[in-house]
Amino acid sequence: MKRSLALHSAMIVDRTDEGAFHFVTLHAPGIAAQARPGQFIQVLPPHDPGEFFLPRPMSIMLAERKTGHVHFAFKEAGRGTRRLATTRRGDTLRVFGPLGRGWSTPASKQTLLLIGGGVGFPPLYFQAWKQSSERGNNNSPVFVVGARSAEELDYADRIRALGVDIRIATDDGSREFHGNAVGLMEEIVAERDDVDWRIQACGPMPMLAGVARVATGLGLDAEVSLETPMACGVGACMGCALPIEPTGTSTSKLTILCDQGPVYDAAEPDWAALEQQSRSASAPSRRVERAVVSTIFAGIEMANPVVLASGTFGYGAEYGRIIDLDRVGAVITKSVSENPRAGNPPPRIRELPTGMLNAIGLQNVGVDRFIEEKLPLFDGLSTRLIVNVVGHDEAEYLRVLDRLAGRSSIDGIELNLSCPNVKGGMRLASDPATIEYFVRRARERCDLPLIVKLTPNVTDVASVARAAEAGGADGISLINTLVGMAIDLDNRRPWVSRGTAGYSGPGVKPVALAMTWLVAQAVSIPVLGGGGISTAEDACEFLVAGASAVSVGTTTFVDPEASIRIAEGIGEWLSEQGCRSVTEVVGTLRSWPGMGEV
Ligand code: FES
Repeated sequence: MKRSLALHSAMIVDRTDEGAFHFVTLHAPGIAAQARPGQFIQVLPPHDPGEFFLPRPMSIMLAERKTGHVHFAFKEAGRGTRRLATTRRGDTLRVFGPLGRGWSTPASKQTLLLIGGGVGFPPLYFQAWKQSSERGNNNSPVFVVGARSAEELDYADRIRALGVDIRIATDDGSREFHGNAVGLMEEIVAERDDVDWRIQACGPMPMLAGVARVATGLGLDAEVSLETPMACGVGACMGCALPIEPTGTSTSKLTILCDQGPVYDAAEPDWAALEQQSRSASAPSRRVERAVVSTIFAGIEMANPVVLASGTFGYGAEYGRIIDLDRVGAVITKSVSENPRAGNPPPRIRELPTGMLNAIGLQNVGVDRFIEEKLPLFDGLSTRLIVNVVGHDEAEYLRVLDRLAGRSSIDGIELNLSCPNVKGGMRLASDPATIEYFVRRARERCDLPLIVKLTPNVTDVASVARAAEAGGADGISLINTLVGMAIDLDNRRPWVSRGTAGYSGPGVKPVALAMTWLVAQAVSIPVLGGGGISTAEDACEFLVAGASAVSVGTTTFVDPEASIRIAEGIGEWLSEQGCRSVTEVVGTLRSWPGMGEV
């Protein structure tokens, strides 16, 4: 197979910042030799493991064959571009391309009308440069740039330096035309109705839809450059699909943007679907002064919805020396069994780029010492205490519950039916009938709120949760750790003595969030959602997905104050959203058409 793309570790030969825009020039001769206006490159900025994963598509702003230089420009919009903005001359970036289908070349009698809105000017700049250098003053392009205000137009002088006719539209009227780029486009076309225009546009979706509407109405040739999240950039993963009119030149209802685009005839996209897809949620209601974060979970009144997850917070006292426990909603203790347990032999933990593995094996002091030594530590605290209970068999679970009964400092029980690191733990955790039976037996013996902790290591977590509800649980807690493994290649043996271990940390968050959402829809009892939460935003995602409270686990090892920071951040976010209480936001996830169907 003939190789037609260039892959470079390309050095940055120039780097400038102008207003919010960052400009990068790379030495990438293989790309420069082939690039056409409208194409893009995939750029992987330097990064730490776990910071981000995929390369970022960047429109080529200019490619110079003679020097081998490839230019692109961007605004910071996320982790990747934030990191890219920190690069300097002399750094190298992993890049490949050129990719995609670029702008068409206008017919000799046509004049280009380029419409760039927001961050959309770079691919048009390349086209303007090429057309004006090839055509001289003959039908030199008209370049319309649209921005909210004059302050966002630092880059306009670069376009002017190309010698093209640049026209500016600002929403606030602070420079030239008062209005948007589409309005100015209409004015230009009306002023010069003798010109055979070809419109090429790149910018926000509403602007492109407007360009398409006007162009269709006036019978003008028009192309638009679309964007969507990408993974491979070469047509291999099919992740960059966008809706397209089946009546256009494509026969499919979806187009693969990195391969068939990003430039399309303006008649091709399914604009109604695209606009609906890009429409953000209606603006939040007015900010409230101070949202109330106190809440009731499974009958337990808590100062806020943040709960410290079992197994990551000892018995409370360990971190109680560092943080004020009364500033979290509840503490769930390490698992407590009838007799002391020694746990698994070392090594027991292994750090991973996105979290850690552990196979502690439920080491604990046993219920008698727990009552004697650990329970009194909560005297005088207002945070709620939930005791995680574990047993080898039904009889042990029940005996532990009996021993804990009537202790006034205990506010609830978390029944651990899900440990992946002990013999038989997974068999119990994955069978709905057994779960229902165990919960029913525990319910008969326990007057305290009973929360059942489930494993994510099952094929249908919703059915297991329904079984726990049927058995009489007051709440569901998830997720326990995912089964994982890491191998020491030098010694060719697992890093953790048990072989497999429980994976936790930021890497498990998407799994935990999905399980929370699935379970919240399947049961009518409240869900304590957690897994990989390290920020208030993470926690709010769980609330929106349907969790009534959230558990913070492994991140405490990184930042002992994380739970307090997260609790405060939840309050701040609720206030910004105009929500007066936690319950107002629980389960408010909006849906896509067909969401959840399989
Ligand atoms: Fe993989 Fe387009 S990003 S097919």
